[in-house]
Amino acid sequence: MAHVAAQDSYPPPAPLQTDEFRIARPQIVGPPSPEPPFPILLVGPVQKGFGRGGKQLGCPTANLPDESITPISTVAKTGVYYGYAQIIPPKDRDTQLRPEDIKVLPMVMSLGWNPFYKNKQLTAEIHILHDFQSDFYGLELRAVVLGYIRPELDYTSREALIDDINTDKRVALNSLDRSGYQAFARDAHFDLQ
Ligand SMILES: Cc1cc2nc3c(=O)[nH]c(=O)nc-3n(C[C@H](O)[C@H](O)[C@H](O)COP(=O)(O)O)c2cc1C
Repeated sequence: MAHVAAQDSYPPPAPLQTDEFRIARPQIVGPPSPEPPFPILLVGPVQKGFGRGGKQLGCPTANLPDESITPISTVAKTGVYYGYAQIIPPKDRDTQLRPEDIKVLPMVMSLGWNPFYKNKQLTAEIHILHDFQSDFYGLELRAVVLGYIRPELDYTSREALIDDINTDKRVALNSLDRSGYQAFARDAHFDLQ
C-alpha cells in the first residue's frame, strides 16, 4: 500500500473500467479496523474545483489545497478512499450551515488525476455523504481517511463513472458501519463540542 505514492506517479496510465470490474466489486472493503497508513488526517480550506462534480456527476466535491493533501499523497497511491469529514464553521461570522451540516459525516475521497477529465494536476476531492443546502467554499474541512476502496479508472462514458461513484458511496457506508471505524467519528481531530 505505502510503496507507490500518488505524487510520484505522474503520468499515470489509468486502466479503463471493464464490466468484469464493475460486476465483481465487493460491497465492503478493508480489515475490521483501520491499518497503517490509516488513519490519515487532513485539514484545509475548501477550494473550488472545476465544478463538474456537482453539475455533471451529481456528486459535488470539496477540493483541498496542495499543501493539505501531502499527508496522503506522499504515503498512499491514487484511488478512491473512505472515511469521515467535518466542515468547521468560522467563529467570526455567520454562515447558512445548519447544525446537521457541521456534524462529523461519512465521506468518499478521490485522490488522483481524474483520467476521465484528463486533469493536469493531482487533486484530493472529498464528497461528503450529506444533503447540504448551501456551499461552504473557504471554510475549514477536516477529514480522517480510514481505508482504500479502488484504483482510479478511466471510463468510456460519464454514466459508467457515475455508476462507480454510487457504488463507492455504498461501499464507504458499509465499510464504516463497523465499530473499529465508527470510533474515528469521535476522533480528537474533529470539533466535537
Ligand atoms: C468517489 C469518487 C470517485 C471518483 N472516481 C474517479 C475515477 O475513477 N476516475 C476519474 O477520472 N475521476 C473520478 N472521480 C473524480 C471525478 O471525475 C471528479 O470529481 C470530477 O472531475 C469533478 O471534479 P470538478 O468538480 O473539479 O470538476 C471520482 C470522484 C469521486 C467523488
